[in-house]
Amino acid sequence: MSAVPRPSPEEEPGHAPAQLAPMTEAWLDEVAALEKTAYTHPWSHGNFSDSLRAGYRASVLLQGDELLGYFVLMKGLDETHLLNITVAPAHQGQGHAQHMLDALAAWSVRQGAQWLWLEVRISNVRARRIYERYGFKEVGVRRNYYPLAPFKREDAVVMSLSLATAEEPLS
Ligand SMILES: CC(C)(COP(=O)(O)OP(=O)(O)OC[C@H]1O[C@@H](n2cnc3c(N)ncnc32)[C@H](O)[C@@H]1OP(=O)(O)O)[C@@H](O)C(=O)NCCC(=O)NCCS
Repeated sequence: MSAVPRPSPEEEPGHAPAQLAPMTEAWLDEVAALEKTAYTHPWSHGNFSDSLRAGYRASVLLQGDELLGYFVLMKGLDETHLLNITVAPAHQGQGHAQHMLDALAAWSVRQGAQWLWLEVRISNVRARRIYERYGFKEVGVRRNYYPLAPFKREDAVVMSLSLATAEEPLS
């Protein structure tokens, strides 16, 4: 699926397996705390809580009891929409986002989705590069989509991944 296949983090020697588990209310204090360390404009506890109540697909990535990251995914008609994907700063650059993208793309395919969509801040060059390497294409810009500073907003780049043309099976 991704351009350069790599072992997922849990396959690397010396690492306890990193595993995905459903994001439940019990995780939300920790999730909201991690969120604050990763973003200038973090989601609130209430945003996560609302997402769970809305029935969005949300998972936490755990190494033992430690929270490494999480994602929130909304199902549409023939697409899924990635609303949040975050890796704890201390654990970034180890392939955890790629691992979560593999899992959520596989889940999307099982739901019959043909597209995976997301928005990313235009200034978030690192995330945009990761998505591009993964196979996402930039398909548009939403002007002034994100808050940036008082009286200032920032554009979002809209990206989509065709699940129908994936290079290898996703399940
Ligand atoms: C964007 C984000 C989710 C990426 O998570 P991540 O776990 O660091 O991403 P990955 O490790 O999968 O990939 C990151 C880098 O590690 C590299 N990498 C991936 N797997 C690797 C492995 N097994 N060994 C070594 N390097 C690896 C990738 O090539 C990539 O390299 P780059 O830094 O040169 O681009 C994370 O940085 C984050 O949470 N940022 C803050 C919140 C955010 O911006 N979220 C996205 C909003 S749209």
